[in-house]
Amino acid sequence: MPGLCEGRVAIVTGAGNGLGKAYALGLAAEGCKVVVNDLGVGTHGEAGETKGAAERVVDEIRAMGGEAVANTDDVADWDAGKRMVEAALDNFGDLHAVVNNAGFVRDRMFFTCSPEEWDAVIRVHLRGHFCTSRHAAEYWRAQSKAGKQVDARIINTTSGAGLQGSVGQSAYSTAKGGIATLTLVQAAEMGRMGVTANALAPNARTRMTDTGAFDMDVAEGAFDVFAPENMAPLVAYLVSAQSAGVTGQVFELKGGEIFLSQGWSDSPSFDKGARFEASELDPIVRKLLQDREPAKPAYGAR
Ligand code: NAI
Repeated sequence: MPGLCEGRVAIVTGAGNGLGKAYALGLAAEGCKVVVNDLGVGTHGEAGETKGAAERVVDEIRAMGGEAVANTDDVADWDAGKRMVEAALDNFGDLHAVVNNAGFVRDRMFFTCSPEEWDAVIRVHLRGHFCTSRHAAEYWRAQSKAGKQVDARIINTTSGAGLQGSVGQSAYSTAKGGIATLTLVQAAEMGRMGVTANALAPNARTRMTDTGAFDMDVAEGAFDVFAPENMAPLVAYLVSAQSAGVTGQVFELKGGEIFLSQGWSDSPSFDKGARFEASELDPIVRKLLQDREPAKPAYGAR
């Protein structure tokens, strides 16, 4: 039986380890040709930590009969994004999907976060989500303008930290929240030219999360809820032609449990029909707070 992604070409960033590796292998198993990007850094962005990781994943894909090429660029480098798109076109003749996954954490409470830590985390996630997709979008727009049928995908990586906040992760949560919103804008802007954009908040045991802070143990013989490979089928589906029309969504996935996240909503409301006096707002605000569904607390909030 042909794979779900037969004939498709995808770039997966940060695909040398953890989730990205699971996505690249899962996509290849479904017949997708893959540009495997990874800079080979540590969980805090330290240089050289997993050097050669992209090439090793490419070797694995080739060993299973798939097609892949490695790219070892920094995902937040503007020209690197162009090189990745060119790698797809030069090696495989087309590009159908960008899976933005690369990233690292530098956890700090907001009140001790240095400007360098802030910038590094914002850069790798937010700018990292911009560069490759932006070059890919330019390619798809040109294709669309030339009258070609575009059926392309952007798959972004957000996080529970971005959707509800996470104590000790102010920069990371900010970046991941921004990525969820970016997904909405990309979906709204590019639907007409045949590009869908969706985001995934994964849950998996990787070197990023296997720090002892989360209970990710698995009992002997039980379903391993936190295996990174559990996240790969949704990515393969979203990359595939089958997911056409599914766009602007934020999925959360945990083991075999899939959730559709809802965006900000502005209900309940109170309308005075005139400008408020500052001094009258306190009871109105407190009533609104009382009437609404309580939001999920930030991770780690007490
Ligand atoms: P990981 O540390 O195992 O993998 C991240 C990969 O990104 C590494 O191979 C690293 O070398 C690469 N990378 C880092 N900076 C890069 C750069 N500038 N250019 C190219 N590659 C770079 O971590 P994991 O857990 O696989 O994380 C993947 C994504 O999923 C990240 O965006 C993370 O924030 C997100 N995520 C993970 C969750 C989990 O449960 N593991 C939960 C929510 C989000």
